[in-house]
Amino acid sequence: MFKRSLAIMLTIIFGLMMIGCGSSDKDGGAPSDTVKEEVKENIVVGFSQLGAESDWRSAHTESIINTFTEENGYELIFEDGQQKQANQIMAIRTFIQQEVDYIILAPVTEKGWDTVLQEAKDADIPVIIVDRMVDVADESLFTCWVGADFELEGQKVTEWLRQYTLKNNIAAKDVHIVNIQGTLGGSSQIGRTKRLRDAVEAYGWDLLEEKPGDFTRTKGKEVMEEFLKQYDNINVVYCENDNEAYGAIEAIEATGKKVGLDIGNGEIMVVSFDGVKRDAMSYALKGKIACIAECNPLHGPRVQAIIETLETGEQPVKFHYMDEEIFSAYESIDVLKIDEKEYSVVHLTQEIIEQRYQ
Ligand code: AHR
Repeated sequence: MFKRSLAIMLTIIFGLMMIGCGSSDKDGGAPSDTVKEEVKENIVVGFSQLGAESDWRSAHTESIINTFTEENGYELIFEDGQQKQANQIMAIRTFIQQEVDYIILAPVTEKGWDTVLQEAKDADIPVIIVDRMVDVADESLFTCWVGADFELEGQKVTEWLRQYTLKNNIAAKDVHIVNIQGTLGGSSQIGRTKRLRDAVEAYGWDLLEEKPGDFTRTKGKEVMEEFLKQYDNINVVYCENDNEAYGAIEAIEATGKKVGLDIGNGEIMVVSFDGVKRDAMSYALKGKIACIAECNPLHGPRVQAIIETLETGEQPVKFHYMDEEIFSAYESIDVLKIDEKEYSVVHLTQEIIEQRYQ
């Protein structure tokens, strides 16, 4: 940022000197025009995205790309890490060599970022972390973070499930859960898994097994097929995102079993996270997904606001949490009380879906 300001100042000084020297068209055009163009130089942003594993990820990438456009005064350099931290580290090192003004990093896992973030800090390039968190010894290695409260999302789903079992007289020992986890080591997996385990311990539910589904439909289906072969009493599937839920539903229905809320009578309930796509909402409306804790991917405008603040020389707030809802078509649960705070459940209707996706 400092380097860019210095370059702009030098350009202005040089431009003024040229005017003072009375250079003319003969010398290659009006110098004052050159000055104007140089001053309007775009802000260069390097974005290391972790991959393209889910609908959520596509919406997230789109939000950043649609925000950091030339019309908005930016040049965006996009790198897809393809789920590999090594690729992301390489991308950051390239951004440093390219002397970008800012780096946006959506890290695949929490650990292992200290060295490369120190390199960015030494190069005086602010790093904004988006989505998952980084677990670094020194928090000054990144400027800001924008993302979701993944533990709260997990609490919303488990509190919804607790209320459902109480309202339907289902004993805790009769709740047999499998967990299709997200990418191991990423904050969204860590937070959502943690809150499920907490609830299992607190309420005495039966957690049969947990396995990673990597946040993809294919792996979600594969893992669910394995679970179904191994256990004949599964009645709740905790999917750590909607894509895994689609895969799990496919696997369940292929065996002839029914997906739904009536777990006292042989149906298998699927609960999930994200709520980004119309598809997920339509599944929820039909009761194929019993409830979805929203994970909001629209980080672009938040990051832009942070960069604008930094450009004025001010220090923005460090941690930015996105606003998120919880959706379900089941009408008997209205409010979830979590840590003394109340969260209203959005009761899905076709009309609500149309409004959201118009
Ligand atoms: O880190 C956010 C999670 O990553 C989303 O819930 C999931 O869909 C994505 O792949």
